[in-house]
Amino acid sequence: MSAAKHSNSLAPITEAELKHLKMPYRRLLPYLRPWLGRFFLGMGLGALAASFNAVMILGLQLIFQLVLDGASKDLSMPVEMAFVGKINLGEMLGLEPGTPMGLWGVIAACACIPLLMFLSGVLEYLNKYCLAWVGTKMLFQIRSDVFAAIMRQSPAFFATTKAGELMQVVSHQSRVAQSHALQVVQLISNRPLTIIVILATLFAMDWFFTLMSLVVFPLCLAPILVIGRRVRKVGAREEKEVGAMMTAMHESFTGIRLVKANAREDYECKRFDRANREMTRNILRWTRATEMIGPIVEAVASIGIAAGLVYFWWKERPAHELIVLVLALSKIYPPAKELSKVSLLMQKTVYAINNIFRVLDRQPDITDAPDARRLPRVSGAIRFDEVSFAYHAPSGAKLEKAAVRGVSLDLQPGKFYALVGPSGAGKSTLFSLLLRFYDPDSGRVLLDGEDIRLATVSSLRENIGMVSQDTFLFHDTIRENIRYGRLDATEDEILAASKQAHAHEFIQQIQGGYDAVVGDAGCNLSGGQKQRISIARAILRNAPVLLLDEATSALDTETEKIIQDAIETLAQGRTVIAIAHRLSTILEADQIIVMNEGRVEAVGPHQTLLQTSPLYQKLYQLQYQNGG
Ligand SMILES: Nc1ncnc2c1ncn2[C@@H]1O[C@H](COP(=O)(O)OP(=O)(O)OP(=O)(O)O)[C@@H](O)[C@H]1O
Ligand SMILES: [Mg+2]
Repeated sequence: MSAAKHSNSLAPITEAELKHLKMPYRRLLPYLRPWLGRFFLGMGLGALAASFNAVMILGLQLIFQLVLDGASKDLSMPVEMAFVGKINLGEMLGLEPGTPMGLWGVIAACACIPLLMFLSGVLEYLNKYCLAWVGTKMLFQIRSDVFAAIMRQSPAFFATTKAGELMQVVSHQSRVAQSHALQVVQLISNRPLTIIVILATLFAMDWFFTLMSLVVFPLCLAPILVIGRRVRKVGAREEKEVGAMMTAMHESFTGIRLVKANAREDYECKRFDRANREMTRNILRWTRATEMIGPIVEAVASIGIAAGLVYFWWKERPAHELIVLVLALSKIYPPAKELSKVSLLMQKTVYAINNIFRVLDRQPDITDAPDARRLPRVSGAIRFDEVSFAYHAPSGAKLEKAAVRGVSLDLQPGKFYALVGPSGAGKSTLFSLLLRFYDPDSGRVLLDGEDIRLATVSSLRENIGMVSQDTFLFHDTIRENIRYGRLDATEDEILAASKQAHAHEFIQQIQGGYDAVVGDAGCNLSGGQKQRISIARAILRNAPVLLLDEATSALDTETEKIIQDAIETLAQGRTVIAIAHRLSTILEADQIIVMNEGRVEAVGPHQTLLQTSPLYQKLYQLQYQNGG
């Protein structure tokens, strides 16, 4: 049996917690495992691309020397190379000593430069693509899992969690986690090795020059480290603000009718702006810091190059060597610059991933017991056995005032029960308990003599149909909206159900009929029409128990008669509990259950209750008699 756990609520990550967030590497591993091969291939390609820098530099050195050196016209002249020593190209190509290169020879040598660049580009592309592929596959799984985890939660969870925040976790946070984590992996797989390879090659070519130009290198590490630390926290904060913005947006969109009716557009815009402004400020904060790194690094690097030039003049070294050295040197700094971004990216990723796992880890309040049994189709005998239940306050503690107290009821299969009582009496709560949206604090709810906590949640709910006050329709065709009651229903069954619900007539008058999309132009249904669709849905579902929460909104007499008819059809052969707002419903009921302040005050047929229950008399006079 699952006790309701409210301690693991999804409160947003606080500033204090932000400091202690860690990367849950081990948790990510299962998502990576299926793609380990590709992952290591991507990493390997990153290393290969980095190592290729040595080939590039040495190749360039060779080409420059061949083309620019005075002696290059003669191919038999040996070329001096780092690591490799002297290479005699003429001999390698089997040329006569003293063969001049000529124009075509020079062009051929120079054509190797774009070729080298191209090869290096291909390696880098493959490295990026491989890792992006892995990341995308991981993201797919993570997103599915997060959505499934949210779907498993009980209604109590949704009552206290902002939908906008959940959407932000599913869509935005998982995307941030994926793209940033990938960039980090890509940078780490390639950049440090790139720097090492280039440095090693440079040292081999001219250790003194390299050393001189690199004396200043630590100088550029300083801003990277200092600024990096500053922007880390800002990154996580920005992600938080995105969440706040999405929540504001989602609430204004879903509540748009309320917003419009109260002319609160400006108010909503201000609310959105607050979150938007905070986010913008954070973005600017870290942009200011990170964009400073580039110019600083470049300025510092240029000192090294200037010093190197002086050294070359002094040593009277050939110019082509300087060109290659400067070229190679300038390739060290961009990777260093990029590495400085890693800590910002990491911080955002850590925040996003922690958020994702927070959702994934949340245990639903209502779960199947380990030995839960599938309920077969029940006959519909319902028993409430001394049931008491109190809701939770947003803080997580139980509310002092119970919504339902010591309710005992015995409902016969196939009978029609009307549930009446003043507002807040606990009528809807009784429905929620029967549907097992909540578990009672004490007592039991039995269906066909079996405690519903011992049955699987899905089989319990398959046995219960529900027509609620506020009919929800999906933005889909009318047909699919009806089919939602039973997904494998055939076309004929859908048609029959909608005829029984008296929905067929009006559906046919709508342009597009069953294929009209609810919510699209021309298919905005009235309250009464929506109700009939939801009745058709319930008929199709064909559950032995039917919970009916009558709409409070008044319908015209004709529509009411039609709906009454539809409900009568629906009620046949089922146990029905109807929260009644109409006289016709209570008059039709076999038994009327009178509730007040969470307790059952009286049960009986209409005439008897009029004699015995003062509360029922009062309700009848105030609520039903005039309306009927
Ligand atoms: N999600 C909730 N969290 C906290 N308290 C709740 C929640 N839902 C209902 N309550 C409280 O429980 C009590 C019973 O509510 P319930 O919705 O069952 O009343 P009701 O009889 O259906 O009323 P109505 O006729 O107005 O629909 C009320 O005092 C209500 O304020
Ligand atoms: Mg209610």
